[in-house]
Amino acid sequence: MPAYILGIESSCDDTSAAVICDDVIKSNVIANQLVHSNFGGVVPELASRAHQQNIIPVIHEAMKRAGIQKNELSAVAFTRGPGLLGSLLVGTSFAKAFALALDIPLIEVDHMQAHILAHFIQNPERTNKVPSFPFLCLTVSGGHTQIVKVSNYFEMEIIGRTIDDAAGEAFDKAAKIMSLPYPGGPLIDKFGKEGNPLAFKFARPSIQGLDYSFSGLKTSFLYFLRDRLKEDADFIEKNKNDLCASIQHAIVSSLMEKVLLAVKQTGIHQVAVAGGVSANSSLRGTFISLQEQGKIEAFIPEFQYTTDNAAMIAVAGYFRYLNKDFADLSLSPYSRSGV
Ligand code: KG4
Ligand code: ZN
Repeated sequence: MPAYILGIESSCDDTSAAVICDDVIKSNVIANQLVHSNFGGVVPELASRAHQQNIIPVIHEAMKRAGIQKNELSAVAFTRGPGLLGSLLVGTSFAKAFALALDIPLIEVDHMQAHILAHFIQNPERTNKVPSFPFLCLTVSGGHTQIVKVSNYFEMEIIGRTIDDAAGEAFDKAAKIMSLPYPGGPLIDKFGKEGNPLAFKFARPSIQGLDYSFSGLKTSFLYFLRDRLKEDADFIEKNKNDLCASIQHAIVSSLMEKVLLAVKQTGIHQVAVAGGVSANSSLRGTFISLQEQGKIEAFIPEFQYTTDNAAMIAVAGYFRYLNKDFADLSLSPYSRSGV
């Protein structure tokens, strides 16, 4: 009998619900919270309130699009962490109440593991290539930057991580310095497409091993612009495309340098990319070109599964469902985790 899993994601500023039938996607509904764009970042208090308003309509829509009734669900999977606690509490409380009311199992999912497992979502309209174990995954989002060795659906080891800012944070902070609205990552991508990635060079810290650091790059970008703006108040406006292309180039080449080192050190050639920053066109392009050069076998997620979504929570929940790995109603969310 097929398993229908409802996935719920509420870790940051997107309220999302998805239904999966085994590993095949049936629906994936995402409500973005536009309320944060004027604040230069996510305001936790506003995020929790928006989740509270969005969660019922989003779940209702996901069930409707999947064409199933509540009593056909086999389990409810939800993001337990990491993320903003107030936001996580909304999804967690809803999932608990829903599972209890329907008398079906509750399944907890780690958000970062789910980003990786998004590679296993099957879509009947497309045939996607799935990595085999073990593989490496560059997991890059607004809060995390990790190189993960994925041994199976549950066993994941972080072999490299950022010691300060995450890659998404580096994109967003650079955008903020240029007075672009939050989240700035997609805008840097958009303007960068029209610019020269080698127009400007910024100092990058060199960190040992497989770890990353992005705070030095942000400072270098800030000081560079401060100096140029003294000479020309319109410097940013006149050079926006080149600035975006150059900062993007610096972030993407830092990311790939350590990925290639990880491939060399582990001897694992299958490399996936996951998380919000995997939507970046330059990063995706670099993965494809490294594959063409025969350096890696690349796995790039479908665009809709790059930023936060509940389809990845539902598929991660499905693998736990098969293992009968169910959660207790007494659990509470966590804001930080390993993977
Ligand atoms: O995974 P995600 O949706 O949320 C977290 O779990 O953090 O990632 C959000 C991050 C933000 O920093 C956003 O600016 C970045 O992903 N991002 C991008 C692009 N799309 C989203 N960064 C660069 N280029 C993009 N196209
Ligand atoms: Zn995420």
